[in-house]
Amino acid sequence: MKSILALASFVAVVTAQSQVWGQCGGIGWTGPTTCVSGATCVAQNSYYWQCLPSTATTTTASSGTTTTSAGSSGLPTSTSTVNSLNALAKSKGKLYFGSATDNPEFSNTAYTKILFSDMFGQITPGNSMKWGPTEPSRDTYTYAQGDVVLNDAKNASQIVRAHNLAWYEQLPNWLSSGNFDNATLQTILTDHVTSAATHYKGQVYAWDVVNEPVDDSGNMRSWLYQDKVGTSYIDLAFRAAHAADPNAKLYLNDYNLEYSGAKFNTTLNLVKQLVAQGTPIHGVGFEGHMIVGSVPSAANIASQMNQFTALGLEVAITELDIRQTMPETAAQRMQQKTDYQNMVGACMLVTKCVGVTVWDYTDLYSWVPSTFSGQGAACPWDNNFARKPAYDGIVLGLGGTS
Ligand SMILES: *[C@@H]1O[C@H](CO)[C@@H](O)[C@H](O)[C@H]1NC(C)=O
Ligand SMILES: *[C@@H]1O[C@H](CO)[C@@H](O)[C@H](O)[C@H]1NC(C)=O
Ligand SMILES: *[C@@H]1O[C@H](CO)[C@@H](O)[C@H](O)[C@H]1NC(C)=O
Repeated sequence: MKSILALASFVAVVTAQSQVWGQCGGIGWTGPTTCVSGATCVAQNSYYWQCLPSTATTTTASSGTTTTSAGSSGLPTSTSTVNSLNALAKSKGKLYFGSATDNPEFSNTAYTKILFSDMFGQITPGNSMKWGPTEPSRDTYTYAQGDVVLNDAKNASQIVRAHNLAWYEQLPNWLSSGNFDNATLQTILTDHVTSAATHYKGQVYAWDVVNEPVDDSGNMRSWLYQDKVGTSYIDLAFRAAHAADPNAKLYLNDYNLEYSGAKFNTTLNLVKQLVAQGTPIHGVGFEGHMIVGSVPSAANIASQMNQFTALGLEVAITELDIRQTMPETAAQRMQQKTDYQNMVGACMLVTKCVGVTVWDYTDLYSWVPSTFSGQGAACPWDNNFARKPAYDGIVLGLGGTS
C-alpha cells in the first residue's frame, strides 16, 4: 500500500481565527487553530480539522495546537507494562514484531527514538525500495534512501522486510508511459528485480516480490505487466529475485486475504500454481489493513493463513493497521483493542506465521487519513506517541498479560 510522505509541523502559528467551514488544524497545518465565535474546531481526520457551526456537532476536538491528537482528551489509553513487543513476540516463538517507516520521518527524533528501540525487531521501508524511487530512468538505479533505512535498522539490530519489486502502483514514468512490447517488458522486469535484489543481497530477511496481483473482484489485476506479459510475469519476478538473493524469503503480498471470497480463492489458486510449477515463493503476506469492528476472529483469520502454510509456505502480517471513522471515541478505542488482539492472535495460532508488522506505529505518520476520507487513528500509538488500548490488544494477542 501507499504511504504518505507528509511531514508534521510542530509549530502552530496562531495568526487569526478560521471562518466557519475553514481549516483549523491537522498535521502540517500552520494556519489558525481557533474558530470564529459560533464555530467549533472539529478533527475530521488527522490531517484536517474544520470549523463547524457549534450546533452541528456534539463532539469537539480539544482546541489549541496541531500536535494534540484528535479527541485525545478523555479517551482510554494503554495500561500495559510491556515495553518490547518484539521481545514478547520472540519469547512466544515468533521471529519479530516490526514497524513500517519512511525516510521523511527520520527527522523527528521523538519518532526515531521509539522506532529504533528494542520495541521493534523488524523494519519495512514504506516507499524507498519501490520501483519508482529506485529506477528513476531505465537502468539507472538509486538505492540511497533504502540504504538509509537498512543501515539504521541494522544499527538497531533489526531485520528488514524489503518492499517491493513488482506492483501496479508507484511505477517510474518512463516505464508506465514507455509503450514497451512484451519481450522488452520481461527484460526490464528481470533487470530491475536483479539489480534491487542484488543490491540488498544477504542483507534483508524477505522481499515482497509481487504486491497486490489480484483485484478486489478476484480477477488477476489489470496492469502493465498482467496485460502485456501475462500472469507469467509473477514467475519471472520470483525467479530473478531468487537468482540474485538465494537466501531472502520471497513473498507474494496482498490485502483482504483475511476474508474468504473470490479474491482469496484466486490468490490461493495462484499460489498453488506457483508452488506446483516450482516458482521460488516462500511466503504470503497478509497486509492487514483492517477496519475497526470488521475484523474476523483470530481463528477465522488463522484458517485463511493455514491454507497457505499447508502448501509449505510461511505467512506474516505485513502492513497491520485498523482504521476508524473520525473522531475517535472511547468505544472505538476499546473495539480497536479487541481487533488488534484478533489480528495478532491469528498469527500466534499459526506456527508458520513468522511475525507481525504495523504499517507505521503512530497515527502521526499513518497513510490512512490521506487515503480514506474521514478515517484515521489506525495505529497503536497516537499522534503524540502515547500508546492506545490497541497496544494492549497486541500484547494480549501475543500471549502476554496486559
Ligand atoms: C547506532 O545505534 C546507537 C545506539 O545503539 C546510537 O547511539 C547511534 O547513534 C546509532 N548510529 C547511527 C549512525 O544511527
Ligand atoms: C508474452 O510473451 C510470452 C513469451 O515470452 C508469452 O508466453 C505470453 O503469452 C506473451 N503475453 C502476451 C500477453 O501476449
Ligand atoms: C471459494 O472457494 C471455496 C472452497 O472451494 C468455495 O466454497 C467458495 O464458494 C469460493 N468462493 C467464491 C466467492 O468463489
